[in-house]
Amino acid sequence: MLKANQNYLKLPGSYLFSTIAKKVASYKEANPDRTVISLGIGDVTQPLSPAIIKSLHDAVDEMGAKETFKGYAPDLGYDFLRKAIAENDYKKRGCDIAEDEIFVSDGAKSDSGNIQEIFDENCKIAVCDPVYPVYVDSNVMAGRTGTYDADSERWSDVIYMPCTAENNFVPDFPEKTPDIIYICSPNNPTGTAMSKADLQKWVDYAREHGSVIIYDAAYEAYISEDDVPHSIYECSGARTCAIEIHSFSKNAGFTGTRLGYTVVPKDLKDAEGTALHGLWARRHGTKFNGAPYIQQKAGAAVYTPEGQAEIKALVSYYMENAKTIKDGLKDAGYTVYGGVNAPYIWLATPDNMKSWDFFDRLLQDANVVGTPGSGFGPSGEGYFRLTAFGTHENTIEAMRRIKEL
Ligand code: MLT
Repeated sequence: MLKANQNYLKLPGSYLFSTIAKKVASYKEANPDRTVISLGIGDVTQPLSPAIIKSLHDAVDEMGAKETFKGYAPDLGYDFLRKAIAENDYKKRGCDIAEDEIFVSDGAKSDSGNIQEIFDENCKIAVCDPVYPVYVDSNVMAGRTGTYDADSERWSDVIYMPCTAENNFVPDFPEKTPDIIYICSPNNPTGTAMSKADLQKWVDYAREHGSVIIYDAAYEAYISEDDVPHSIYECSGARTCAIEIHSFSKNAGFTGTRLGYTVVPKDLKDAEGTALHGLWARRHGTKFNGAPYIQQKAGAAVYTPEGQAEIKALVSYYMENAKTIKDGLKDAGYTVYGGVNAPYIWLATPDNMKSWDFFDRLLQDANVVGTPGSGFGPSGEGYFRLTAFGTHENTIEAMRRIKEL
């Protein structure tokens, strides 16, 4: 008997950003005269930089010539890119990560959704609350989260670690021991970041409890403070307990180009001594034919001196928006967090308004789109996220409209 995967049917509603896109599309259809500004999904607005464009053009030309044409890419990534990543993102930071521990992919979203496949279905997951929805939803699809309680908006088998102003947005150790711990720092959605000392405590905890940390470092390029680590492998012992996921979307503007990578150190083993590196390699081999050569060449251009200077300028551009949003909201009397080491600003809604009510108000009265905090988890209720990835002009205009509310 043909039967759909019942785990999918447990998912309440559509994916957060699809729900928002639908709401915005219907508002625009009903109000064609209004100019809506999107500070919702964290999608970049600035074009790819010259070094990357040149590399893309060159790679396209190579694909068009008999001598340099490429077919399937190696499923774990081209050596030239893995080498550039190992050198620039790890060795230069004093982290002991080898080229063959780096798995190139088509993006951090796929990797953060797929990585759970290499763990047993009975493993217990712990997530920060609020959280990037992919971590929870992908575990729901895998049947690892138990039943959903619509009142509390929680899954029975998920360990939630509230991250609020009270704990400075750094999760406390949970009462129950998780097998898999998801940490994203700098954090999406709160825009806050963990210090190296705080992250080291989590690494120590994971080692002591035999857990693995899945560390999402997609926003590391936005770190401005010295005590915030760019990689979990800056913490001692992380090679035996952590997987790290990276994106080229947020630092270099590849949201439409697609490229990312995941590090699985060879020292990382489960309780029976099985190395997870081999499992992830096996998965790549079976389910992935490698990120396209053209994209990987563009990724390598990010690590050239020109590429580095250009992405630094991109990051500064967006961080100027973060400052505009933060200062603007503060002037308007809002309580705000984040926006120092991350391109997200997390604000408390006015008058304890529900997150989705504030979303509607902002859309209707200011024609500005943001993301309701409760969409990221129950502890996000009463909060709201704005992204710094807009253009300067739209960000300034959005702040003007919000101040007038
Ligand atoms: C977000 O807005 O949270 C991100 O852009 C989503 C993503 O990176 O997939």
